[in-house]
Amino acid sequence: MKYGFFDDQAREYVITRPDTPLPWINYLGSDGFFSLISNTCGGYSFYRDAKLRRITRFRYNNVPADDGGRCFYICDGDTVWSPAFLPARTPLDRYRCRHGLGYSVFEGAKNGVSAALTVTVPIDTSMEVQRLTLKNESDQEKKLTVYGAVEWCLWNAVDDATNFQRNWNIGEVELEGSTVYHKTEYRERRDHYAFYSVNAPIAGFDTDRDSFLGQFRGWREPLAVEQRTSFCSVASGWAPIAALRLELTLAPGEEKTLLFRLGYVELPREEKFTALNVINKAPAHKLLAAFETEAQFNAALEALRTYWTDLLSRFTVRSSEEKLDRMVNIWNQYQCMVTFNMSRSASYYESGTGRGMGFRDSCQDLLGFVHLIPERARERIVDIASIQFADGSTYHQYQPLTKRGNADVGSGFNDDPLWLVACTCAYLRETGDFSILDAPTPFNNEAGTEVPLLEHLRRSVNYTVTHKGPHGLPLIGRADWNDCLNLNCFSLTPGESFQTCSNFESGKAESVFIAGMFVKYGTEYAALCDQIGLGTEAAEIRTQVAEMEKAVLAHGWDGEWFRRAYDAFERPIGSKDNEEGKIFIEPQGFCVMAGIGGEACGKKALASTERLLGNDFGIELLSPCYSEYHDYLGEISSYPPGYKENGSVFCHNNPWITLAWCKVRDGNAAFDLYTRNAPAYIEDKSEIHRTEPYCYSQTIAGRAAQNYGEAKNAWLTGTAAWSFVAVSQGILGVRPDYAGLVVDPCLPDSMAGCQISRLFRGTRYEITVRRGAEKGLTVDGQPIAGNTVPLTDAPLCRVTVTL
Ligand code: GLC
Ligand code: GLC
Repeated sequence: MKYGFFDDQAREYVITRPDTPLPWINYLGSDGFFSLISNTCGGYSFYRDAKLRRITRFRYNNVPADDGGRCFYICDGDTVWSPAFLPARTPLDRYRCRHGLGYSVFEGAKNGVSAALTVTVPIDTSMEVQRLTLKNESDQEKKLTVYGAVEWCLWNAVDDATNFQRNWNIGEVELEGSTVYHKTEYRERRDHYAFYSVNAPIAGFDTDRDSFLGQFRGWREPLAVEQRTSFCSVASGWAPIAALRLELTLAPGEEKTLLFRLGYVELPREEKFTALNVINKAPAHKLLAAFETEAQFNAALEALRTYWTDLLSRFTVRSSEEKLDRMVNIWNQYQCMVTFNMSRSASYYESGTGRGMGFRDSCQDLLGFVHLIPERARERIVDIASIQFADGSTYHQYQPLTKRGNADVGSGFNDDPLWLVACTCAYLRETGDFSILDAPTPFNNEAGTEVPLLEHLRRSVNYTVTHKGPHGLPLIGRADWNDCLNLNCFSLTPGESFQTCSNFESGKAESVFIAGMFVKYGTEYAALCDQIGLGTEAAEIRTQVAEMEKAVLAHGWDGEWFRRAYDAFERPIGSKDNEEGKIFIEPQGFCVMAGIGGEACGKKALASTERLLGNDFGIELLSPCYSEYHDYLGEISSYPPGYKENGSVFCHNNPWITLAWCKVRDGNAAFDLYTRNAPAYIEDKSEIHRTEPYCYSQTIAGRAAQNYGEAKNAWLTGTAAWSFVAVSQGILGVRPDYAGLVVDPCLPDSMAGCQISRLFRGTRYEITVRRGAEKGLTVDGQPIAGNTVPLTDAPLCRVTVTL
């Protein structure tokens, strides 16, 4: 069952009813000011950091869910309704939500009045703009009372939700014309404020929540709205809001447009005030002046459209598979941008108050983003590397506002360092910008410790070499990619973090997965060394890689698949000899991608993977699921069978298997797996899948779970980047490399061919993939040997590949 449809022409997903199984959200903003917005106009905004600079309030775990985001009320006679259904919940005569790239549109209608609400954060603007157009579609004059309201967050989202003995005393606002300024804590150390404004004279306002809502009421039925009035309340402590009221008269057929603006301003300390405790509003005035008219708003929407057209034109495909094209050309790349911006910080499932930017997560996000805006990728790589320690280990997370490592979680995730190699090599292959390797990059953000970025990569690789266990395999530390495989943790205390507690530092538990990573990324590092004339170092690394491969074949191969790990007592995990958790997905993906054991092991491992882990929605993480808790395994066994790391389809690593199938040249298997969880392909199962059909979710409950097929944790997942890598570099086979663009498609038999357009180092490659007797590649009509199209200065290069 579907709750909407894709409009590929407009690059929108059109939701046709408000009662989607879960809020289906979108992201607004490209840098700095960000908003989350659901299909009923819920959500919140923040500036740079969802924890430390939260602009509007969001209630997690709220009932009903998603109430109280952007609150619009249209009062028409006895009826009060909201254009996006919430918060008024009055059944609408028409409803539509169109989520587009960086904007969302809500079309509602009731009793002969229609509302079109378009919400966006214009590029390079620290403000969300909400354009509300009301039209009288009846043949009678309409007198409407209209409200727009938001609830302020007292900036630090954690304090805001916990420290009430202070919070209820500090709320402050200022008023000026049709603008409410939120200035809590501005009197002391903050140098930022927010505002909510409308570009028309208001008939009244409220800034104190409890006055506006009235006692025993929520956002569905504010007292002020019920009485079609405003109490002109001025918040002093408690919960400051901005509720603006307008009175409109619309003749039959007439329409009027209002621009509501939610902005954020930062000031130099010495320019904060214009008089005692009166905030300097000049920057706000400037922002407002830039979005005073519809023409300005339309221009911003147009600029946003152009921005996305340009970004998305860097990689496009045209094929017989409409859903494939839709994922590749629009939604997968869009999600890559969102994961790049948010890491795992702010979604409807990531509260924005916990994890900031993850080291391993952000490195992987770059793999799907680097072709979009390489300059931002470059900056990010240096930021990430700056939280590394001198011994090559790294902080696991950092806070985007401060860019400092997060001490609560610390370090010790032994896969982390290698991901830095992965993303830097991807950046270099994409751009050829070797100057990044010289970028002075500190350790642990300490000034004076800067070394060239290359030295960070070297230490990353070296960290694995110097941290091996009894079988010559990498020590796992607190966990590797699988955060829940905590082999040194042995926790028996409820609530203790599995990732940070370790009651038994065995110095023994090993990861076959990291071994696979080392073979893959160690080899990439060696190739990089070759590029910059470090032949000796390249050879040394290759020796280490060969040794690791040997160790994997000796101790990591189980006969039919790769093992997962060795526990603290040197017992294998992910082996036929285990009762449960006999096989895990991760090493099958990475060891096969790395080519360990060649095609023979690869094909065997993948066949076992499909046979034992395959389900309708992809490949489950492990099987059989753990039926009870084992302290020597950690969090993985804490989840009920079929959920999360205990045997769900953890979507993030499914593309590894897709890529592994490509590695052994099985295009049918690769594509089959791709289509089992690519959102557009499962849109018609939305009532089972439940999360948005236009983006990947982290996890889909496995066969062992009660709710088999139900997805959770939409949007912020490494699935976005890896799926894009799998489809663009594996299935479609277009891979940037140092010497040129590799064109090596691995299509399913069902596809006769396709057209790919790829912008790479300033050249547009127009690639035709077709089937025919004369196999091979031609470049501008000339046959070439191999599958690397050499670099060229020409603006256009035509490539034909015949399969
Ligand atoms: C979450 C984490 C990611 C981890 C994965 C598997 O998605 O963000 O870092 O690799 O879970 O545990
Ligand atoms: C839990 C989750 C895992 C996530 C981790 C982040 O362990 O199961 O997916 O990566 O928390 O801390």
